[in-house]
Amino acid sequence: EAPARYDFVIVGGGTSGLVVANRLSEKPDITVAVIEAGDSVFNNPNVTTVTGYGLAFDSDIDWAYKTEDQTYADGKKQTMRAGKAIGGTSTINGMSYTRAQDVQIDVWEAVGNKGWNWNTLFPYYKKSEHFQVPTPDQVDHGADYYSSYHGTSGPLKVGWPYFMTNSSLVPAIDQTLRQLDVPYNRDVNGGQMVGFTVHPDTIDREANIREDAARAYYWPYQARPNLKIITNTYANKIIWDDSKHGDAVATGVEVTSVNGTETIYASKEVILSAGSLKSPVILELSGIGNPDILEKYDIPVKVNNTAVGENLQDETNNGLSYQGREFYIGTATFSALPSAQQIYGDKLSDVASSINSSLADYAKAVANFSNGAVKEENVLSALQTQWDLIFKSDVPFAEIVFVPIPKTFLSEFWTLLPFSRGNIHIKSADPTRQASINPNYFMFGQDLTSQADVAQFIRKIFHTAPLSDVVMDENDPGLDLVPENATESVWKDWVKTSYRSNFHPVGTASMMPRDKGGVVNAQLKVYGTKNVRVIDASVVPFQLCGHLTSTLYAVAERASDLIKNSYTAY
Ligand code: FDA
Repeated sequence: EAPARYDFVIVGGGTSGLVVANRLSEKPDITVAVIEAGDSVFNNPNVTTVTGYGLAFDSDIDWAYKTEDQTYADGKKQTMRAGKAIGGTSTINGMSYTRAQDVQIDVWEAVGNKGWNWNTLFPYYKKSEHFQVPTPDQVDHGADYYSSYHGTSGPLKVGWPYFMTNSSLVPAIDQTLRQLDVPYNRDVNGGQMVGFTVHPDTIDREANIREDAARAYYWPYQARPNLKIITNTYANKIIWDDSKHGDAVATGVEVTSVNGTETIYASKEVILSAGSLKSPVILELSGIGNPDILEKYDIPVKVNNTAVGENLQDETNNGLSYQGREFYIGTATFSALPSAQQIYGDKLSDVASSINSSLADYAKAVANFSNGAVKEENVLSALQTQWDLIFKSDVPFAEIVFVPIPKTFLSEFWTLLPFSRGNIHIKSADPTRQASINPNYFMFGQDLTSQADVAQFIRKIFHTAPLSDVVMDENDPGLDLVPENATESVWKDWVKTSYRSNFHPVGTASMMPRDKGGVVNAQLKVYGTKNVRVIDASVVPFQLCGHLTSTLYAVAERASDLIKNSYTAY
């Protein structure tokens, strides 16, 4: 039997990988293979049920990666969830569809990624989207939008669930937040995110099913003869040609399945879309990374780039909850995205200058933690960029989600742009061994303080009328654990003992100039290679204020065009 050979081999049939597979295979003369460790979840109720968020956790479609002990959070490990299925993490996620603040995408270009800015990405958000205009009943329940922000002919269904939460809550939350200077925002998907909003979700409203990357980009196109998905198959590493000089040339991917280990050959390119907690690992196993790490496991160095696996950024999530007076039903999508100004009021300039004066120390600590793999000056300029976004450009500082469920009113929240930086690296040359994942949650006291400050802001929200009339006692953290007027340190202890990952890891194969700590260039091509790209959350260089998928779909859409345009024959 002749060995399997395709023009493009994509590793990971997840959120980003399926976009690229779809767009490349639009050209009938291009053959595309997608290697996916998981299987179809098309009929899996833990995936499809609109109210089923969380059902898939710890099931066989959740990678449930464990972190290293978190030094700055009492040494405990965290679980970082990720989907193992056709559709990847989009099959298990929270469905929230919010993009980014325009200036956050503009900084991609400002740091040296030519062509990546809000104006060039915005059309791709729309290209991916099939917006479902809300019904009058949904509008009554708070669904609101500007049609110019949305695309209606893309593959990804975006809209509101049929059964939305009691309409009385929208004005109650809105009036409450206005008193705390958080304005109403009709539609956060046009680049201006600050305010209270009833944002859309990735959902197929008519079918009343959760939407995911597979339903959008794969299943309707599965019959294409030039598109092949190879499931239940694990990619181990990239296989290279014999050349010793010049950029490395990938010839295929070594995979393992029940049929044993074999190579799937790529005549044009290998594209890694295995997610931010896997793509950098595959690079290292393939010889691209920090020689100190690769040599420890006898992996020949193909490309020396110490930035691989560094710059890991995630957010931390906590929840307050209250006893509800009413019995709410339906699916809530209420979020407040306050700016730092709105959270801190007249304390803002003190907070801003205290953080600013710490940035140099943070940069030194990150460089030290990486054993010199990242340069202090590069980290400092990244942290400065982030500080500017928060304190000069007024991007949202936190997301506060309001989740009214029967008799309980839950509010989950996360600060959006923590300063801590971690990394992910192999601990073995054996591809089946999980890598060492260390997000370094709360590495900097400021990240813990911010999270505690937002918690206090939320308590204030629930103490303000009319929302205060809707709830009774606080269940979490509760006044026994964290009394009224509790000190900052009591709040911080609670945050530290009850937080979880917010499941937004990015940055582990950043798109950046190489001398600034980049792993891929503005074509998403891996430095030092001729034909390997990374297209997934790994390449996002700075954390975003939106949930990630909308931006990942847009990035993958744009990347697909870059690839098509680079082969003029197409
Ligand atoms: P993704 O994880 O989608 O794809 C990677 C694929 O590669 C997977 O299918 C995996 O099985 C496969 N793979 C990995 N290693 C492999 C190997 N060696 N061989 C073969 N295949 C391999 N975002 C949002 O917009 N709104 C939300 O509400 C939420 N909520 C949320 C909740 C939870 C619980 C999580 C875990 C995440 C979210 N997110 C979210 C985040 C968002 O879903 C996530 O960032 C993206 O789906 C990631 O897309 P990627 O393309 O980077 O990887």
